Amino acid sequence: MQPTTFDLRRRDFAKTALFGAAAVAASLPAVANAAAGGAEENVIFTKDDPGHWAGKEALHVPVATVQGSTLTVKTPHPMSEAHYIVSHSVVLDGGRYLGRKTFTPKDQPVSTHTLPAGYKGKVTVTSTCNLHDFWVTSLTI
Ligand SMILES: [Fe+2]
Repeated sequence: MQPTTFDLRRRDFAKTALFGAAAVAASLPAVANAAAGGAEENVIFTKDDPGHWAGKEALHVPVATVQGSTLTVKTPHPMSEAHYIVSHSVVLDGGRYLGRKTFTPKDQPVSTHTLPAGYKGKVTVTSTCNLHDFWVTSLTI
């Protein structure tokens, strides 16, 4: 069966949204600077800049650990039908998109990602809550 125009538009939207999220994460420093009163304020949240979600940091900032070539991302957030972590994404230095994991309310908000062999550099990790938006942290390995 041929895809309809709607199907094709939906696919294009999904691609755009996915790469858009990666691009946003990769440009975090620029966004953080703009957040000091710019249009992006209260769009991306961090431990040090929880914006209007102040007090929610402990349950929403993703925690990333590395063992060998495995990056594990956990969000210490309860999971229920009404309130849950929707996804994690990982972006490497230079905006190189590594991967994404989506969750249902029945999952635990834990994802693992394989780093490129010998990778050294910045790793940006995002966690999205269905009620409390888009949270970011980064580490350097
Ligand atoms: Fe939440």
